[in-house]
Amino acid sequence: MVTTPVDLDYKQHPNNYKLAHIPGTKGLPLIGNVLPFIKDMLADSRNRVERFGEVSRFVIADQTGLLVVGADNYKTIMLDRESNFSAEMGYAQQLGAFYRGGLLLLDFDEHRMQRRIMQQAFKFTTMKHYMDPLNERFDHHLLRWPKDTEIKFYYEIKKVLLDIGSRIFLGEDEFNQDAELVNHAFADVSGGLGSVLRFNLIGTKFYRGLKGKATLADYVARKIPDRRAGDGEDVLSHMCRERNEYGEFFSDKEITQHTTFLLFAAHDTTTSVLSHMVMYLGTRPEYQERLRQECLALNTDELDYTDLDKLPEFERCFEEVMRLHPPVPMSMRRTIRETELGGHKVPPNTLLFMPTCYNQRDPQYWTNPDEFDPSRFDEPRNEHKNHSYCYHPFGGGAHKCIGMHFALMLSKCFIFHLLRNYKVTTPPGYSPTLDWVPIPKPADGVPITLTALEN
Ligand code: HEM
Repeated sequence: MVTTPVDLDYKQHPNNYKLAHIPGTKGLPLIGNVLPFIKDMLADSRNRVERFGEVSRFVIADQTGLLVVGADNYKTIMLDRESNFSAEMGYAQQLGAFYRGGLLLLDFDEHRMQRRIMQQAFKFTTMKHYMDPLNERFDHHLLRWPKDTEIKFYYEIKKVLLDIGSRIFLGEDEFNQDAELVNHAFADVSGGLGSVLRFNLIGTKFYRGLKGKATLADYVARKIPDRRAGDGEDVLSHMCRERNEYGEFFSDKEITQHTTFLLFAAHDTTTSVLSHMVMYLGTRPEYQERLRQECLALNTDELDYTDLDKLPEFERCFEEVMRLHPPVPMSMRRTIRETELGGHKVPPNTLLFMPTCYNQRDPQYWTNPDEFDPSRFDEPRNEHKNHSYCYHPFGGGAHKCIGMHFALMLSKCFIFHLLRNYKVTTPPGYSPTLDWVPIPKPADGVPITLTALEN
């Protein structure tokens, strides 16, 4: 019997607003503290820690809760030894309309049982099969990107990653009408997620988002019988063939919910990390060359699965980029029962806003925390080991990112094909404004010029 500790409908169990005993601010009428926070999450979090400490009363539009930072607090919340924190209730208002039933919107026993659906798809033995399409698609797209003229990297890689997603996650062989339909529907859902006015009225982004969600669900549902009967190595096929703890196939509804959430969880995050990475490679030509030499030393045109652990320079760079610019800028939780955080009593049903950036630049753990310095992840410094929760770009505990190894593999493969064939240049003195929401990224879309290397 699957149990959840509360009836997880946030409308029937509203958030707790009684937090006057905890220091903090209400912010402006209607919008609360949102403006300084989305402008610069790091500066605002630091400012609040100075004024109020690691836990402070905080309002984002109609959501009142607590802004929580601090490695010890994150350890308590993410490991959640006493089942005090609900991810579903934390994310319900923000993601519920589109991704109810996705892994991050499930808790405890139900979450544990449902997470099994993805275990096979993200095992090392299965992930080997994703290398061929990754090599082939990155090579294909990079060959077609314009050379010796400026392109906006962010928009180009976004399209490429949608194509990769439709092949590796959904098992589509080639770009066809279905892939186009999926891409449009996916873009509509993203638009709906970002809409402030959430009324289901024709013509609004929210309305289009909900239609997009229905289109995606319908598309996945149509594929299920075929994928279940076949022996495909794509993620959807694995999920269709996976069985729950009673030995039964997961239901079509479950498969659909997990697949649509997976596309969402995978896409913007990898787009974000690659955009920041290319920004650093463009502005640091000598560093770019070091990574290129590492790729060339493998002496191969295609990255093999066994090559993945032969790129340590790349890994340090990837880790440092995610430390400075975490692709998931904030996690959400809601308390289930009274608990304690940062020395304050926190009542049940209290929303917790948890920006990723603060701990990852906390000078208690990191030297010169605002500087790009990949060697901090190397021996003997190992700064990421100074606390088990000073570095958590992939989260931690039960909800730790299931796609973490896939994200690393995909990023390695892309950078490998990019650097061994092209020089990447950004405009002189390039120093873009950085967006924190909806996706952390250089605001100008990262203008770069690719020049073919002579082989
Ligand atoms: C650099 C890329 C990525 C980053 C930084 C990232 C980060 C995260 C974080 C922080 C969480 C936990 C959120 C929380 O606890 O509130 C998470 C969960 C998740 N991620 Fe990722 N992610 C990335 C890529 C991916 C990819 C490529 C996939 C799929 C292939 C994926 C699938 C998921 C899923 C399914 C969850 C929910 C897990 C659960 O609730 O059990 N992510 N991710």
